[in-house]
Amino acid sequence: MAQYDVQEISKGVHWVGVRDWDRRMFDELIPLPQGTTYNAYLVRGEKTALIDTVNPGFENELLAKITMVMNPAEIDYIVMNHAEPDHAGSIPFMLEQCPRAKLITTKKGARMAELYFGATADRTIVVKDGDVIDLGGRILRFAEAPWLHWPETMFTFLEGERVLFSCDFFGAHTAKGLWDDENEELYSHAQSYFGEIMMPFRKFGRRGVEKARELDPLIIAPSHGPMHRHPENILGLYHRWTSGETRNKAIIAYVSMWSATRALVRTMSERLAAEGVEVVQYDLPCSDIGEIAKDLVDARAIILGSPAFLGGMHPQAVYAATLVKALRPPAKFAAVLSSFGWGGGAVKQAGEILGPTGMEIVGTVEMGGPPTEAEHSAVAQLAKDLAARMSE
Ligand SMILES: Cc1cc2nc3c(=O)[nH]c(=O)nc-3n(C[C@H](O)[C@H](O)[C@H](O)COP(=O)(O)O)c2cc1C
Ligand SMILES: [Fe+2]
Ligand SMILES: [Fe+2]
Repeated sequence: MAQYDVQEISKGVHWVGVRDWDRRMFDELIPLPQGTTYNAYLVRGEKTALIDTVNPGFENELLAKITMVMNPAEIDYIVMNHAEPDHAGSIPFMLEQCPRAKLITTKKGARMAELYFGATADRTIVVKDGDVIDLGGRILRFAEAPWLHWPETMFTFLEGERVLFSCDFFGAHTAKGLWDDENEELYSHAQSYFGEIMMPFRKFGRRGVEKARELDPLIIAPSHGPMHRHPENILGLYHRWTSGETRNKAIIAYVSMWSATRALVRTMSERLAAEGVEVVQYDLPCSDIGEIAKDLVDARAIILGSPAFLGGMHPQAVYAATLVKALRPPAKFAAVLSSFGWGGGAVKQAGEILGPTGMEIVGTVEMGGPPTEAEHSAVAQLAKDLAARMSE
């Protein structure tokens, strides 16, 4: 058996999580260039609580790590901050290994634990906002945190040591570094992660940040990626991201089969840059959705480029527009660029998908075949208009 690392991260608190270096996809959507972690923690007083578990497939590693600290059969509580299987999937196994342990979760969490993991009422303790559990000299306080990331989610706070176990909130998908200062790209990973996972719930995120600030943690211990021993950094970033503050930044996401649309995109990105706008350009078929999600967190404008394709947009552009609609980025302005062969249809479909987002479509350029000088000029004018709206 492998020889594992467990760490005491605060007095009587052990990290017993799993580093999944080899995982390459999350939610079958997001590439994970540095893998991820499933963080679980043991909090030991006279009684012991296990905070969250790990992704299915790592049950034995979790058990081995707990065994390095204590006899798992003596665990009294298993706290389920979130019912998603990456954290809760090992609960059935752990309930078997810890015959006297009770599962602690919110009311909605209890229903989901029954649905997903067959957790019965006699093994479950339901807690609500502000409830505490005394581990014998150490108090765990529960704070409901709905929609961060599912409706049942909560935070757990260890008083005294002031460790905030925030589950998905404040997380990052990377296996590198146990602490925030051990991964120089952490905040970039955290921003991608925020874009993919938390951005659709920005309003709840705002409340989550306030709640976290009120608790005044010394350590924020999320369930993915490094722990924060400089919590003010991630709190400051989350404050910005959840408030929907944008930069003078435009993201151009496009696809082009024969380079006609690409030619328009070139003029758009050059002319936006000339107007002093930060530009990021993504050729959709070979772009990382995580990178796009990161830029959506604080971009002020989104430009979609697509040729006409069977009466609508190219499927890659449909995918991108659908993702933008679902992730609800704070961008206020949009534009659409397209080339067609005969009947067009891409701009119309872009409007249909983006319409309900409330973004203002500042302009569109739709042309037959490759661009003429007049069409390049129309794009240059659109870049100017966009830049003006963005700096209002
Ligand atoms: C698979 C395929 C489907 C297409 N469907 C349409 C269409 O429905 N309507 C249209 O006007 N042009 C259609 N076209 C033509 C392209 O939109 C046209 O060639 C365009 O100039 C390509 O732009 P691009 O160079 O940016 O890829 C299609 C082309 C391909 C290859
Ligand atoms: Fe989750
Ligand atoms: Fe998660």
